[in-house]
Amino acid sequence: MIALWAVFGYLLGSIPFGLVIARALGLGDLRKIGSGNIGATNVLRTGNKPAALATLLLDSGKGAIAVLVARHLGGETAAMLAGGAAFLGHCFPAWLGFKGGKGVATFLGTLIALHWPLGLIACATWLLTAAVSRISSLSALLAAALSPVFAWGLGRPDLIAVSLFMAVLIFVRHRPNIARLRDGTEPRIGKKG
Ligand code: G3P
Repeated sequence: MIALWAVFGYLLGSIPFGLVIARALGLGDLRKIGSGNIGATNVLRTGNKPAALATLLLDSGKGAIAVLVARHLGGETAAMLAGGAAFLGHCFPAWLGFKGGKGVATFLGTLIALHWPLGLIACATWLLTAAVSRISSLSALLAAALSPVFAWGLGRPDLIAVSLFMAVLIFVRHRPNIARLRDGTEPRIGKKG
């Protein structure tokens, strides 16, 4: 029965909002623009800021909603399972041949709903790093890497596993970004990749 929450989270998380919004607004196929990613950072490369904001809110919202609904109906374990599965659905959606996004917005939304102080600290880490570096991927990698440490520091060791799971996958999904960061060729936020 508890596995149904994973299915629910996966299905919700696998809705590729960036792709849908970009198509609906005639911005083109995100997979052929900039980094090819379906997330808000790449939507911003089309120059349409409201579309990027909508993608950010919907991609984070789907993680948060998966957690909140599962918690309400199934309890805390269901919430963690649904949140982790929503993140997985975003990164590997069946509808797109399992080639999805990098999971950052869904990771942040999931964390906010699981434990808002943890989510807010992860968001603050992203924002601070982005303010200094102007690089979205670097901000995401730092926020993800530190999230299990923050979970532990906030006295929520039960959230270390789900944070670590998402952090590892964020690193896996950012392999091309990590290579560009190493080469010094990763574009700044808003600049065409
Ligand atoms: O949220 C994804 C971001 O960290 C990197 O996106 O399009 O620059 O690969 P992008």
